[in-house]
Amino acid sequence: MPRRLSRSRACLAALVALSAGAALAAPRSYAVPEPTAELRPPADGAHAAGFAAAQANCMTCHSVDYIAMQPPGKGRAFWEAEVTKMIKVYRAPIDEADGRAIAAYLSAQY
Ligand code: HEC
Repeated sequence: MPRRLSRSRACLAALVALSAGAALAAPRSYAVPEPTAELRPPADGAHAAGFAAAQANCMTCHSVDYIAMQPPGKGRAFWEAEVTKMIKVYRAPIDEADGRAIAAYLSAQY
């Protein structure tokens, strides 16, 4: 079966060529910018706890940009829904009281 043999040889040659290419590929490095966004400090002491809870819980999976880029003045219901979504959909380990304080802080500040 010369035909089969040559086909498997061609396969082998292709494999060798592929792995040689992978070995020769130069490593790439990317300069990722430093995250600069920070949570806005609360305007009054009433939201200090929510601010602290947001700092502790809302920057573990993504940057503050996700919060800051939301349209301003969305209100309490919007931020409560956002926090609930982070907990229920994305499994953020945030307890209920912290979640409520965070939503109150965010709706006052954003
Ligand atoms: C367990 C990981 C995790 C934590 C913790 C987390 N988030 Fe998120 N968040 C996500 C994911 C995943 C997305 C969606 C990313 C995408 O769609 O590209 C997201 C998106 C968002 C968005 C963009 C709008 C949207 O709904 O997609 C906002 C606003 C946001 N998060 C706010 C918060 C706030 C406020 C907290 C703290 C209470 C928080 N996140 C904590 C995972 C997390």
